[in-house]
Amino acid sequence: MGGWGAASSQAASCSGFPVKTLKQTQYYPGRAPVEAFNVARTPYTHTDTHTRMRAHTQTHIHRHTHTHTQSLSLARSLAIALSPGILVFPPVNSPSSPALEEAPPSVETSPKFLLPQLCSAVPTSGFGKWILQTQVLLEALYLTVDPYMRIMAKSLKEGDMMMGEQVARVVESKNSAFPTGTIVLAPSGWTTHSISNGEKLEKVLAEWPDTLPLSLALGTVGMPGLTAYFGLLDICGVKGGETVLVSAAAGAVGSIVGQIAKLKGCKVVGTAGSDEKVAWLKKHGFDVALNYKTVKSLEEALKVAAPEGYDCYFDNVGGEFSNVAITQMKKFGRIAICGAISVYNRTSPLPPGPSPEIIIFKELHLQGFVVYRWQGEVRQKALRDLLKWVSEGKIQYHEHVTEGFENMPAAFIGLLKGENLGKAIVKA
Ligand SMILES: NC(=O)c1ccc[n+]([C@@H]2O[C@H](COP(=O)([O-])OP(=O)(O)OC[C@H]3O[C@@H](n4cnc5c(N)ncnc54)[C@H](OP(=O)(O)O)[C@@H]3O)[C@@H](O)[C@H]2O)c1
Repeated sequence: MGGWGAASSQAASCSGFPVKTLKQTQYYPGRAPVEAFNVARTPYTHTDTHTRMRAHTQTHIHRHTHTHTQSLSLARSLAIALSPGILVFPPVNSPSSPALEEAPPSVETSPKFLLPQLCSAVPTSGFGKWILQTQVLLEALYLTVDPYMRIMAKSLKEGDMMMGEQVARVVESKNSAFPTGTIVLAPSGWTTHSISNGEKLEKVLAEWPDTLPLSLALGTVGMPGLTAYFGLLDICGVKGGETVLVSAAAGAVGSIVGQIAKLKGCKVVGTAGSDEKVAWLKKHGFDVALNYKTVKSLEEALKVAAPEGYDCYFDNVGGEFSNVAITQMKKFGRIAICGAISVYNRTSPLPPGPSPEIIIFKELHLQGFVVYRWQGEVRQKALRDLLKWVSEGKIQYHEHVTEGFENMPAAFIGLLKGENLGKAIVKA
């Protein structure tokens, strides 16, 4: 469901603050002229205060709580809201906007960043009359930022809403399948409120225990977890006793790949971009973890980590890293090409691909895949397996939680800069 396209067109929505704080009398007035809103600079907040929430659940809150305003170089690339519920995050590499690499470490304020103002157009109560039979009104609890958004955003126009899934609560319902209070996964995009006819909603697993945060439905027990599961088990076809290499190993997908490989009895080597991430990987069972940014020679480090070579490589990053990794494969090795985050942000031509000689003479099997291939019962079984492994403590998870819907751009940029350990989540 959701994710790989612009936000569902069936969903009308309002970005901003919780319904109860909103004041006016029309819920979804359609496209309002931008002048209808106060376009004064919104104080933006960012701090590095880190707070542990539910220490036992390994959730990491990245708070954004102090105010600062700066000049507008990033503002040109972010967050233009034109009408209620329609956010525009223009492609960050569009001609009028700077590349993300130029982004400062914290998100600046855009004079067009209208989230608080937008929601002044929403009434405080009586939503029932604004939704039709079969529709529900959703309020976002957790939203996800994912690398694919960097690619998909390139096709958005001003006025489109940024795509993406969220865990939401049904706050008004005229659809008996989704009574008020139901928790769903919704492809509503970057919005705090949306209206759906239920078609693209998915309830979280009935057996979801109270002890696990619902945000995991966007991570370990959601799309990234499924990507790890199917990529490793189906595409790599991993078997016990094999040696597995995983890149971006401390991320949402990679951290689960390595742990499933360990569950299956493999030797696992993971690479990540900071010593903190490397320490986490070692703590959670990776046989070898390397900081690919600080090793003298990646080729040498991968060789030392697995002198026998790698049976499987779960490739999350592509580019130069993978050109080196492929040289360390065993004959008949299998490579699951999951992602290429190292090149999503490029402004120059693609780097050259891997050596054809190596692929030919090692008789490697390289296969790309998209997680949405697996649907129906096989998907449900995978979700149940992941939930069970997490519940039993066989798979550990970590979340990098950014608080506040208005901090979604900061969370997204942070993901692309490698700030997240585990799944990057925004708590609305
Ligand atoms: N095929 C599918 O169906 C599917 C589904 C989901 C995700 N994916 C792909 O899987 C990959 C991982 O996704 P995720 O959601 O788990 O993200 P993630 O790993 O949680 O976060 C992205 C991580 O990528 C690393 N990174 C960023 N820029 C990089 C660069 N230039 N070179 C190398 N690494 C870089 C950073 O970690 P470090 O600090 O370690 O560098 C960053 O933390 C992405 O390529 C994504 O597109 C594919």
